[in-house]
Amino acid sequence: MNILLVGGGGREHTLAWKISKSSLCEKLFVAPGNAGTSQFGVNVDISVNNFAVLANFCLENAIDMLIVGPEEPLVKGIYNFFKDNTATAHIQVIGPSKEAAQLEGSKAFAKAFMDRHKIPTAAYKEFDAATYEEGIQYIRNHTLPIVLKADGLAAGKGVIICNNHIEALAEFQLMIQHSKFGEAGKRVVIEQFLDGIEVSVFVLTDGKNYVVLPEAKDYKKIGKWDTGPNTGGMGAVSPVPFVDAEYMKIITQKIIEPTIEGLQKEALDYKGFVFIGLINVDGEPFVIEYNCRLGDPETEVIIPRIENDLIKILSATAEQRLNEIDIVINKQTVVTVMAVSGGYPNEHETGKIITGLSDTKIEGTIVFHAGTRQEGDKVLTNGGRVIAVTSFGNSIAEAAEQSNYMLEQIDFEGMYFREDIGYEFR
Ligand code: AMP
Ligand code: GLY
Repeated sequence: MNILLVGGGGREHTLAWKISKSSLCEKLFVAPGNAGTSQFGVNVDISVNNFAVLANFCLENAIDMLIVGPEEPLVKGIYNFFKDNTATAHIQVIGPSKEAAQLEGSKAFAKAFMDRHKIPTAAYKEFDAATYEEGIQYIRNHTLPIVLKADGLAAGKGVIICNNHIEALAEFQLMIQHSKFGEAGKRVVIEQFLDGIEVSVFVLTDGKNYVVLPEAKDYKKIGKWDTGPNTGGMGAVSPVPFVDAEYMKIITQKIIEPTIEGLQKEALDYKGFVFIGLINVDGEPFVIEYNCRLGDPETEVIIPRIENDLIKILSATAEQRLNEIDIVINKQTVVTVMAVSGGYPNEHETGKIITGLSDTKIEGTIVFHAGTRQEGDKVLTNGGRVIAVTSFGNSIAEAAEQSNYMLEQIDFEGMYFREDIGYEFR
C-alpha cells in the first residue's frame, strides 16, 4: 500500500517509524513531515489544511491510505472532502468525519453528546452572546474554582481555570464580547472543577467495533513538579501505574462503550483514534475532553508499546473489521521526554543547529523529532517542541533516566527539558 501521513510533529515521526515496520507499506509520504520523518518516508511540502493539493497528490501517487495526525484538518472536514469526491472516495482515510470530529472541535457538542449518552463528566452550562447576562449570574452563583472553556479549537489554550469570581467574569467577558478565542470561542462552556489525577485513554474505532490502546499520562506544565504555564506536553508515561485492569474495566463500561455506541446511534462516521482525557475523582473516571486524534507526546509512548503491524490495524479500521484484531501490548514501561526551545511556551527562536543527534545509540531508546527541519546536512530547530526521546525501561524512573541521559548528548541553543517526567510514580 502507498500511504500519505498528514502532519509534521513528534506524533507523526513516531507514526512514520512504526509504519515503516509494516509489511503492507510500500511507499510512505509525509506532508509536511520534519527532519525525522524523512528517515522513513518522503516529505512533501503540502500544508495539512490544503485538501485539494493533498487530494491531487494522492491521485498522482496512487495513495491507498491517508492517515491524519492533527486535529485541524479533521475538524475542517478532510474526511468528507476525500469521501465526497468520486476520484478520491476509494482512499482509506484514518480519522473521523467532520460531524464526528465535533467531539473535539466543539466543547458544547462534546458536553451535549456526553449528556445524551450518560457519560460521566463535570456538570456544565453553555452560554453565548444572547445569554451573556445569564452567564454572568451563573458565574456569580458558581462554587470555586470555575472552569471556562471556549467552544472551538484554541490550540490547547481555550481552557481557563479561575480561582475567584472576578477573574472568571473578566475572562467570560473577554471570550464573549472581545472574541479572545475567535468567533468559535464566543460560545463558552462553564463547568464544575474536578479535583483528581488525569489520565488519557486511547481507543481505535471503525465506528462499530473498537480496540483499546495503551493509556498514557502527559505532563503539560513547563516547569519541574508541574509548575508554570501549560504547554502542548513536556513528556509522557505509559502505562499509568494507577490504571489497573479493574479501573480499565470501569473506564470501558462507563465511558468507552457508551461513547462508541453513541457514535453509532447518532450515525456519526468515525474510523480513527479517539483520545479521551479523564480525571479520576475518588476512583471514578470523568471525561474532561475528547480529541479526535492521537495525542502528542502521548503517541511517542503508546505507539512503541503496540506490537501489531500498524497498517494491518488501520486497514481493519477502514474496512470495519476491527473485531478481527487482537491488540498485543508490550508490558514494559515507556517514557518520553520533550526537549523544547528556550522561552517556550512563550515567544521562542527557531533555526538553531541541533548537535549530537546521531552520536550516541542506546538500546531501548528512540529519538523522535518534533519541530525540526533539514537544511543541507544540518538539522535545525523549527518549533517550540523540538525533540522527544522515548525509552523503554523496567520502571518509570529507569526509562526517564535513560531519556534524560540521551538528551544530555543532544544540544541546541536554549534547549530545555523536564528531568522529572513521571515524578509522582518514581
Ligand atoms: P483541555 O484543553 O480540554 O485539554 O483542558 C486542558 C486542561 O484543563 C486539562 O488537561 C485539565 O488539566 C484541565 N481541566 C479541564 N477541564 C477541567 C475540569 N472540569 N476540572 C479540572 N480541570 C480541568
Ligand atoms: N498532549 C495533549 C494533546 O495532544 O492534546
